[in-house]
Amino acid sequence: MKIAVLPGDGIGPEIVTEAVKVLHALQLPFEMETAPVGGAAYAALGHPLPASTLKLAQDADAILFGAVGDWKYDTLARHLRPEQAILGLRKNLGLFANFRPAVCYPELVSASSLKPELVSGLDILIIRELTGDIYFGQPRGRRIATEGDYAGSEEAFDTMRYSRPEIERIAHVAFQAARKRSKRVTSVDKANVLETFQFWKDIVTEVGLQYPDVALDHMYVDNAAMQLVKAPKKFDVIVTGNMFGDILSDEASMLTGSIGMLPSASLNAAHKGLYEPSHGSAPDIAGQGIANPLATILSAAMMLRFSLNQEAAAQRIEAAVKKVLAQGLRTADIYSEGTTRVSTIDMGNAVVKAMR
Ligand code: IPM
Ligand code: MN
Repeated sequence: MKIAVLPGDGIGPEIVTEAVKVLHALQLPFEMETAPVGGAAYAALGHPLPASTLKLAQDADAILFGAVGDWKYDTLARHLRPEQAILGLRKNLGLFANFRPAVCYPELVSASSLKPELVSGLDILIIRELTGDIYFGQPRGRRIATEGDYAGSEEAFDTMRYSRPEIERIAHVAFQAARKRSKRVTSVDKANVLETFQFWKDIVTEVGLQYPDVALDHMYVDNAAMQLVKAPKKFDVIVTGNMFGDILSDEASMLTGSIGMLPSASLNAAHKGLYEPSHGSAPDIAGQGIANPLATILSAAMMLRFSLNQEAAAQRIEAAVKKVLAQGLRTADIYSEGTTRVSTIDMGNAVVKAMR
């Protein structure tokens, strides 16, 4: 089992180190190789996704990814910015299906900014399409407008687009995931305004006919954003496009108390996957040893489950995470009075210990 380990920027290296420690503790035959990505790769090799890093990712069975991005790279040309690394990996490996679970652990109910009764028991799965939409649509760029009210002025433009096969395949992923849960899918769109998302809605409805056992409903994205903070437990599986999924998954993560707890998986048609925490590189706290490694550790568990066929090992890790939370161990982001504040490294060590 070959795992490409791409720590990246900011807190990436610190949290990935802990996840790797947990993987080693399983004593399974993993071959792990590390490569630079993001700003770190730009600094070392002049490109956020060097050919050598892409090759390592392509040859691996799974990819464990930390996070990319740092303010110090914000002024670089777009194609050299750290974010291009993750976008390039998604596109090159065809990682179209992004799973972002938002689960509220009982111990963290009070860490949420919502009332405990709204989030206790929360278990949502956001399935975000990851290789299409306005993120990748062409053409895009800047130019001088040649028509309309602003002819002669500078303008910038992006293209929102989805093709039928792209929508069909992500819809199938969502319905199949819902079958293993409470058999409900909410498709989020903006069909009242956007042609792309009327098309989305039509096709998801069509695919839904093949899953008569799964209840499908549709919601406009603005309403979904509101319902997520009003009555989040009404949702089970949410399926949506790349940009709406980006926004709603950040929103959903906060319901659970901390974005530092949420793993994610990005899969392609061959179930090869990239696994990363749902949070970013947090350069403001990098190097302080206070970042929460649990999202990355839980991402490693998802990797074992989805790409490496090691369900028992995945469950071992997940049970160990529950155990350390029950023991009252907390990194700064989830700390509250009466619990024990621990460092990134101590949290990783505690998970390893709890696995024994
Ligand atoms: C995410 C991130 C990325 C995205 C950025 C870093 C390109 O916000 O994974 O949600 O927008 O997809
Ligand atoms: Mn995001």
